[in-house]
Amino acid sequence: MSFNLSLAQAIRKMDTCEMNTFGQMLARGHERVCFHTDDQTGLRAIIAIHSTKLGSALGGTRRWHYATEEEAIYDVLRLSEGMTWKAACADLPMGGAKSVILLPAPNTPRTEAEARAMGRFVDTFAGDYIAAEDVGVDTRFIDWMAEETPHVMGGERVSTGGDPSPFTARGTFNGMKACLQHRGQAIDFSGLTVAVQGLGHVGMDLCRILHTAGASLIVSDIVERRVSEAVDNFSATAVSPDAILQSKCDILAPCALGGVIGTEDVPRLHASIVCGAANNILVDPERDAAALSKADILYAPDFVVNAGGLIWLAGLWLGWDRTELDRRNDLIEETTLEVLDSSSTLESTHAAAIAMAHRRFAEVPPGEKETLHAG
Ligand code: NAI
Repeated sequence: MSFNLSLAQAIRKMDTCEMNTFGQMLARGHERVCFHTDDQTGLRAIIAIHSTKLGSALGGTRRWHYATEEEAIYDVLRLSEGMTWKAACADLPMGGAKSVILLPAPNTPRTEAEARAMGRFVDTFAGDYIAAEDVGVDTRFIDWMAEETPHVMGGERVSTGGDPSPFTARGTFNGMKACLQHRGQAIDFSGLTVAVQGLGHVGMDLCRILHTAGASLIVSDIVERRVSEAVDNFSATAVSPDAILQSKCDILAPCALGGVIGTEDVPRLHASIVCGAANNILVDPERDAAALSKADILYAPDFVVNAGGLIWLAGLWLGWDRTELDRRNDLIEETTLEVLDSSSTLESTHAAAIAMAHRRFAEVPPGEKETLHAG
């Protein structure tokens, strides 16, 4: 999986990063943050549990070379908080968490020993934390972790679930349907043009769904082979990575990196809807979502529409069958519509999504958990 927010852009807003770790935990409301080293493999990892109020906390393990330890802490705290709101909006009885492995150098190859050491670290949480794929982690790595702990999802051989991307793509398409409905348009993709930035696991599958639904596609990727595949299979029009965001289209779907739309980009957009799978599409969600709203561009909050992969893995963890998993994914349409419809009295659709997550979070009484006693 790709890095879902270019760190440089995230760091631009590192106001909270300047706080110490406890300060950041308090500001964001974290329950627990654990640091781990493993002598034999050199593993250095952090698991951050934002909340287990709604249930066990599921969130990916990211392997990344961070310039400083502070950046790693900032990243894991920001991402784990986001997982709580994503799970709450998806109405999952799950909490929010994330973990990071601090690589000694960029693109350090993954090893079985490293994955197993991470699996042992995850196992110490006794099921409060359930790990899954994120940037730098694939199904093989997950299966190695699963040799050491049952608390991991998304493998193919030992753990289950596999790559959740097709479910993320489907959920994003459901989010697009809600956008059309909110705008009073027919839910009919024939005659619509959708610009898809990033043709990876999610983006390519989204193109397939949109093409089948009759949409015309404009596509871009930095990997030429993927662009040719989309042109050949979906009669897509290719544009350069520099031009995709300014494409004249009905829906712009960022499915590559995060942090691609800032307030200064808004006047250059030629889409009436922004709805994509990338995590953290906006550089500063509060500010940029308000700017989009002012420009009358409908923004579907990313953490609402890209929850399909989480629903898939969490649902399998909870023992749901395929019918229930599909029903939950289809509900993304209803949830997105509720968010969009409730945004009229708020500053932006992002604010409406956060309000919904907080509401759902507040409605559930805290579970009966064992109290931890120190000393
Ligand atoms: P991926 O790594 O398979 O695909 C990303 C694609 O974007 C690659 O083809 C890459 O070459 C391309 N790309 C990178 N920079 C680009 C640029 N400047 N212009 C155009 N293309 C560019 O990642 P995946 O799994 O498809 O995820 C896509 C996004 O969705 C990420 O932001 C990810 O965090 C997010 N997401 C993914 C989920 C999943 O189930 N895979 C779940 C929720 C969010």
